[in-house]
Amino acid sequence: MLKRADFPENFLFGAATSAYQIEGHAFGGAGPTHWDTFAAKPGNVVNNENGAVACDHYHRYEQDLDLLLGFDAYRFSTSWARVLPEGRGPVNQEGLDFYDRLVDAVLERGLKPFLTLYHWELPATLADLGGWTNREIAGWFGDYTDIVMDRIGDRVASVATINEPWCVSYLSHFLGHHAPGLRDIGATANAVHNVLLAHGVAMERLRARGQDNLGIVLNFEALRPGSQKPEDLAAAATYDDVMNRLFIQPLMTGTYPDAIMAGLGSHLPQRWQDDMDLISKPMDWLGVNYYTRQTIVAAPSEPWPSTRFITTDCDKTQMGWDIYPEGLHETLTWLTDEFTGDMPLFVTENGMAWDDKVINGTVNDSERMDYISRHLQQIHRAIGDGCNVQGFFYWSLMDNYEWAFGYDKRFGMIHVDFETQKRTPKESYHLLKQVIRRDRGGI
Ligand code: FCB
Repeated sequence: MLKRADFPENFLFGAATSAYQIEGHAFGGAGPTHWDTFAAKPGNVVNNENGAVACDHYHRYEQDLDLLLGFDAYRFSTSWARVLPEGRGPVNQEGLDFYDRLVDAVLERGLKPFLTLYHWELPATLADLGGWTNREIAGWFGDYTDIVMDRIGDRVASVATINEPWCVSYLSHFLGHHAPGLRDIGATANAVHNVLLAHGVAMERLRARGQDNLGIVLNFEALRPGSQKPEDLAAAATYDDVMNRLFIQPLMTGTYPDAIMAGLGSHLPQRWQDDMDLISKPMDWLGVNYYTRQTIVAAPSEPWPSTRFITTDCDKTQMGWDIYPEGLHETLTWLTDEFTGDMPLFVTENGMAWDDKVINGTVNDSERMDYISRHLQQIHRAIGDGCNVQGFFYWSLMDNYEWAFGYDKRFGMIHVDFETQKRTPKESYHLLKQVIRRDRGGI
């Protein structure tokens, strides 16, 4: 396993979480979110579970952050619905007080606070107004951004506007797997564009305040064609536009990829071109979330994008996701070559779910240790190949509410017993803590 000394001097090691997945939205005056609505409908979420209690981090944040002693940074998010229970209008002071205490607690432990402003808990009131399909959301998000920054902007090390716009738009409005659970191409095109516009407006507000280290967090997958047949090669290229280029291309060049124009172009809002300048204003860094690889084949009888996945024989996680560390190197080098150049990259999420069990007080997650080790090697290789990667955040600090999978899938370095809220650090946590030690330069 590589150790801290193998990485550049200022490389940051951290862990990531998000508000709705850990805090417990029943506490502290948070408003209802579109995830609560979605989870209440049978069939959407395993066991209809929601984030009402989650890891009770709202009350346990101090002890949770103690677990990060020795790390360099902590990536977390503020919940829009906790700060503004109705999405706009009255502010929940208790919510802002919580984030104020949280940021101080992060700093007290010598960690850099990496804030994400939106990690999916859209206030239900805004969802009722059309949510991401309503263009006005860009202004609402800008106002929320200002309110959060007024309180904690002086102490955060870095700000990401939105986590995984692909999930916010495509996964949630086209595939229907996440809230609001739509399968509507018009809603999808509008959500795609409005997420970008909201990012652009928030960036403008953040810049106007003099806030620095601004970026966004995108998710990428390694893709490969299921065969060398021309139709499968074409399908893989189409899906690459849909999955990997849908956001990075407009953000960096102000244009949508060809396959997106072919599929969604006629559904984009009128005069969408006028927004592209704001959308593609320079950022200071890019967050890369990487987990897995997909194998794509043509599905000509299905509607756009007429592609489908096939399962191949390889090691998989509890999610059934291919374990393919080389894909992280492929992603980082591709982004650097084609889009980001010298701009800093952070691996803002990487990790795996496993059916971890506490046995005699320990969790032996050797599969996760191997996963982390192999992905760190690929980051190291990418740095050697000239990529400006400046940090790695394991997803996630602790087991939590895994969206449509409820509490069933465990991604944490820390095991959480959701009955008792007992935390048990897994072996992977102990190992990562060892290798990033500064005093002995790791083991
Ligand atoms: C990402 C999300 C994160 C978590 C991981 C497993 O897509 O950003 O909240 O669900 O996947």
